[in-house]
Amino acid sequence: MSGPRHLVSIDDLSLAEIRELFERAQEFAQDPRAWAALCPGLISASLFYEPSTRTRLSFESAMLRLGGGVVTAADMRQSSASKGESLADTVRVVGGGYADIIVLRHPSEGAARLAASYSSVPVINAGDGSHEHPTQTLCDLYNLYVEHGRIEGIDVVLAGDLRYSRTIHSFAYALARFGANIICVPQAGFEMPEYVLQRLREEFGVEPLRADATRLGSLAAASDAMYLTPQKPHQLSLFTDARGWKVDRVDAVYMTRPQTERHGADDNKSEYLRLGKRAMAEESLRQAVVMHPLPRRDEISEEMDSDPRSIYFKQAARGVPIRMAILGTLLGRLDSQAEPGAAQVQRYPVTVGDNPCPNTTCISHTETRHVLPSYQLASRSPLRAHCAWCSQELPFTFVACTSTGHYHQAGAACLRRVRPDHLVFLRDEGQARALGFEPPQRSTRPCPQ
Ligand code: NCD
Repeated sequence: MSGPRHLVSIDDLSLAEIRELFERAQEFAQDPRAWAALCPGLISASLFYEPSTRTRLSFESAMLRLGGGVVTAADMRQSSASKGESLADTVRVVGGGYADIIVLRHPSEGAARLAASYSSVPVINAGDGSHEHPTQTLCDLYNLYVEHGRIEGIDVVLAGDLRYSRTIHSFAYALARFGANIICVPQAGFEMPEYVLQRLREEFGVEPLRADATRLGSLAAASDAMYLTPQKPHQLSLFTDARGWKVDRVDAVYMTRPQTERHGADDNKSEYLRLGKRAMAEESLRQAVVMHPLPRRDEISEEMDSDPRSIYFKQAARGVPIRMAILGTLLGRLDSQAEPGAAQVQRYPVTVGDNPCPNTTCISHTETRHVLPSYQLASRSPLRAHCAWCSQELPFTFVACTSTGHYHQAGAACLRRVRPDHLVFLRDEGQARALGFEPPQRSTRPCPQ
């Protein structure tokens, strides 16, 4: 029998399922008090190892509106986690009779995936470190859908701390899948991580181009903007100059705060991007809605609150109906006509010397008793591997083939066709030799394809 359906990544849902969630949410939003017969007797558990206002309260409000109940650990430091209990044990206890669904927020990347692998009830990722935040993405997409009637082909500016904002990463994957165009306007030093760009490029066919963002005016003046566009023939892009892509009109500006709790970088507020009336006076932004997952600090000035383009408080309010739809669906209380399925291309496991995941806040470093380091092929050409828990790329310089016993420079053409389960990613030549591999000239056998 297959296990429960989890929502760990935005990739766990097909586009048809996401559209269906929007339709459900619209029904719920019309009269949120009319749905108490949907989940009576069911309980959701909020396990929050990190602070939250909107995500936890909107999930709990959603469950109560569906007629269910809620048990909540709003600060897991007050729980047995402070006595050293592992996440794996906690979810087995909570899912083993206390609750029918778990909403989890955790500071380690990959935590939700780990929880899902131990839980007998559905696990919803409410944010895992700087990795993903799929339900915020569903909320954000739902807002675009309500405001613009479509997501396909729209132009969205992602601004601020693109490196550590988990909301940005899930949102970018989903926008790419829907065929939206993304203009990255990062705070200097907080650009979109390479592993996210690689994935957008390789799995979603998104072409990153340098943007001539002068028409974004003061918003982009201090930033090295980048334009990401899906290579799809149906593109409705307004960006027509193939050499120096020009931003003509933007449909949404999505601002994020500096994620200081993750990088501890100097909190120099005066240097951070700031969206105010002056930036929003640019012609290209005249019709752009202003979004923010909140909490906001100084990156959107308060003078914007009365601007009709500012939707960030509406955006937060719409978190309740969309989370009602998510809970109802994962609890099996809503019939679905949509073809289920994930976006993800097939992920092949690969072997890696004895290297730990390079990301020190990956769950593989914090739950060592329950997590076996696990790696997957991220792309064939160039050959790349990433951590199956946190998606962080693995640094390596050599790759060996188990069936020939050869090791090669990572870029060697002969490696491209080796079966993924025959590949071993290696830190350096010393590691290759220590594991018994030899340089290719010592053997005449070609690598099997
Ligand atoms: C976001 C989060 O926690 O990642 N907040 C939220 O869920 N609404 C964004 C943030 O904290 O900056």
